[in-house]
Amino acid sequence: MIERACIDNAEEILSVINKSNREAYKSIIPKEYFKEPVLSIEELLKDFERMTFYVYRRKDRIVGVAALQIESRETGRIHWVYVLPGYQRKGIGTALVTHVEREAREMGLRKLRLLTVGKAKWAVNFYRKLGYYLVNKVEKPWGFDVFMEKKLQILNRCK
Ligand SMILES: CC(C)(COP(=O)(O)OP(=O)(O)OC[C@H]1O[C@@H](n2cnc3c(N)ncnc32)[C@H](O)[C@@H]1OP(=O)(O)O)[C@@H](O)C(=O)NCCC(=O)NCCS
Repeated sequence: MIERACIDNAEEILSVINKSNREAYKSIIPKEYFKEPVLSIEELLKDFERMTFYVYRRKDRIVGVAALQIESRETGRIHWVYVLPGYQRKGIGTALVTHVEREAREMGLRKLRLLTVGKAKWAVNFYRKLGYYLVNKVEKPWGFDVFMEKKLQILNRCK
């Protein structure tokens, strides 16, 4: 159900991110700051070069997305966690982030970081439930953006 995305999936990924972003953030980000679409195909293709995208498929349709960027030898950053409206609250976001964490551990990463909007209580709740904790907040015209982190448990390695 979850697979590593390839460039052929770019248009479908873009559609998931832009639809989900519009539905979730249009009412909490003031009009003058709300970017629509939040991501262009050019920006997404650039992100494909610096991070790995994972997709969740339901009946051959991509309904969820998450991306992992390696920031340093020990730290990774999670980006673009989006589930299509209509498929939310069914465990898909949890499955995606858990998969990203597993991949990160296998790469030897020890910590994952992410940034989200403080007013997006659903997102903060979602990450809290997965074990992420608040480390910093940055003032924005729409309130605060919050940085969250999680330390990854080290896998037992074969000798
Ligand atoms: C945040 C998001 C990725 C969560 O994905 P999801 O598949 O809906 O989440 P899950 O079903 O795995 O939910 C796990 C837990 O997160 C919390 N959660 C998820 N959606 C929530 C909501 N709308 N309100 C409150 N808590 C919520 C709950 O604790 C939930 O557990 P529960 O359903 O047993 O109560 C999804 O809501 C989404 O795409 N939102 C729009 C984009 C976004 O905000 N992305 C994250 C920041 S970039």
